[in-house]
Amino acid sequence: MAHGSQWIVLHGRASSLVLEACPGEAPLWRYWGPRLPDAALPAVPLRDSRPTPTFTVQFDQPLSLLPGLGQGWFGEPALKAHRAGRDWTLQATHCLLEQDGQRAVVTLTDAVARIAVAVTLALDPHSDVLTISTVLTNTGDDLLDVQWLAAAVLPLPAHARRVRSFTGRHNIEFVAIEDTLTRSQWRRENRRGLTSHDCFPGAVVLADGWAYGAQLAWSGNHCQLIDWCDDGRWQWQLGEALMPGEVRLAPGESLQSPEVLATCAADANGVAQNFHAAIRARMDWPGSAMRPRPVHLNTWEGFYFDHDEAALKDLADAAARAGIERFVLDDGWFHRRNDDTTSLGDWWPDHAKYPGGLGPLAAHVIGLGMEFGLWVEPEMVNPVSELYRAHPDWALQVAGRPLITARNQLVLDMGRSDVRDYLFERLSGLLAELPIGYLKWDHNRDLTAAGERPSYRTQVLGTYDLLARLRAAFPAVEIEACAGGGGRIDAGIARFTHRFWTSDNIDAVSRVAIQRGFLQFMPPELMGSHVGAAPAHATGRIQKMSLRNHVALPGHFGVELDLRKLSDRDLARLGEGIARYKGLRRRLHTGQVWQGEGPDGLLWQAHGSAAELVLLVTRIEPQQQRHAPGLRLPMLDPARHYRIGDAVHHGAWLVQHGLDLPPLRAESGLVLELTAL
Ligand code: GLA
Repeated sequence: MAHGSQWIVLHGRASSLVLEACPGEAPLWRYWGPRLPDAALPAVPLRDSRPTPTFTVQFDQPLSLLPGLGQGWFGEPALKAHRAGRDWTLQATHCLLEQDGQRAVVTLTDAVARIAVAVTLALDPHSDVLTISTVLTNTGDDLLDVQWLAAAVLPLPAHARRVRSFTGRHNIEFVAIEDTLTRSQWRRENRRGLTSHDCFPGAVVLADGWAYGAQLAWSGNHCQLIDWCDDGRWQWQLGEALMPGEVRLAPGESLQSPEVLATCAADANGVAQNFHAAIRARMDWPGSAMRPRPVHLNTWEGFYFDHDEAALKDLADAAARAGIERFVLDDGWFHRRNDDTTSLGDWWPDHAKYPGGLGPLAAHVIGLGMEFGLWVEPEMVNPVSELYRAHPDWALQVAGRPLITARNQLVLDMGRSDVRDYLFERLSGLLAELPIGYLKWDHNRDLTAAGERPSYRTQVLGTYDLLARLRAAFPAVEIEACAGGGGRIDAGIARFTHRFWTSDNIDAVSRVAIQRGFLQFMPPELMGSHVGAAPAHATGRIQKMSLRNHVALPGHFGVELDLRKLSDRDLARLGEGIARYKGLRRRLHTGQVWQGEGPDGLLWQAHGSAAELVLLVTRIEPQQQRHAPGLRLPMLDPARHYRIGDAVHHGAWLVQHGLDLPPLRAESGLVLELTAL
């Protein structure tokens, strides 16, 4: 085994990976961690460094890029498949390596089970994010039934300790949970058919002095697991969760996995910064560059289904006066949609509410200098709708099983081209007829019986296809991804969209934690963050306008309340919040983000660079100490001086001692601008 080893080495800015390639098998994972000098390779091939322990098969199978099954690897395999019970042992017998700079393609074939697997790894030197995906091809003569294909198998070092992942539900997204890694397998799986509120498809692993992050770019079912290996390391697999019978590859057919974005850095902030850079590089903005994120007005919580054209025009007038730049007409505008029991699928304006269609309202909004946006929920149908009456078979169903509704709605079969054509025709009709610059694309339920044969996967691909067609036909239109708030936040749908609706919970206190979780994986300019009403509709809690402004500030700022009902004082405060956002948005949305916890319950986040920072400090609970200790700002340059307001501080003082802050009341925040001199 000592012969013929060669190395696959990819270096990033601050990280490196090393795989050991041996002829006739999958490359072995040797290293993923802090940047190594170019010449720092293992002195000996792995197997030469580890004698065979007692009671061990006489073939040493360390962790590879594609751990097999039944051939000496006893951990979780990267692939589970069979042909009617045969060809279940999977182990590469041939390996072809191709490396072109920062990109390596490893093509593995198994001459016995007759499959081919190509793993592509690309390490972006700027973001330090490794993108991995895997394609499985059935090279045999019979159907290959696939139960699991890891999109990526990542090695974690023996000093990995804890994994931070995110759970939640509607109205409480991104609840952080931290588990200690043990010899029991750690596993998070989602079977809700969309990304889900309950299980974000990614995590951060905290090792001694180093942190790892990975996220799956996929908007459907998913699974990730961390499995202890015999040599004390861990393997981390992420991939699409497949239902029984969901993928059966005919001879010659392939299964393409979603991409995994993976990175490592000194700490969780470094992981977040790398993810932000990678997601930014993947974004497809109209005009190919992000323009300043316009201030939104969304009509949902201010009006719900109660659309009145004259009142909405008044609202638009008030919005324009307040400095709002985009007016988004939410649910309630289409044919007979007066509550959530009917009409999804009937995508034409309700003529009782809008006798002249949406044209007059849109023209009014545009005449005020704002953009016009529209809410849609294309993948859904209410049983009470013209669409369902005409095409009951278009809803996902299993014969003999009840049609389980959620919010009174069913899910359209996005795998059908006639369904997608209908939706394309309706949506493109609206986009062509009306001056719509923005779509809010919702998906308000989990999937249950997704078709006679499970078609969760085709559901996602069908939606991506429809999004891609619409983007190609209307490249200037931006799209917001929403699923009852944050039920579809992932790097897969971000390829087609430009904003996430982070949560239906706009309570500013709840939002603090939700947004901190979001920022672990996604950059702030994609984070829809609104000033809502008081009391907050989701919780009933009342918060000051200043706190609502403060919490909405770092994201893509919006307003979701009936502006006409605000007191003069609140309206003036909101105007100040909007003006402050406009003044800071460039810095908030283009630099790096750091988040931390200060002493005595203070939360802080900083956006920008070590030369120019916006610092947001938030206090939720009352201060417990009489005097607050300094807030240490580790990201600053200790060799420089910083101007904050009228004072000049030494960087080293701010890094080591910290910034002395005035006392903050409970539920309040402070925004400071730091400029290096
Ligand atoms: C979902 C969204 C809300 C709103 C409603 C409309 O719940 O998250 O923002 O658009 O649907 O029905």
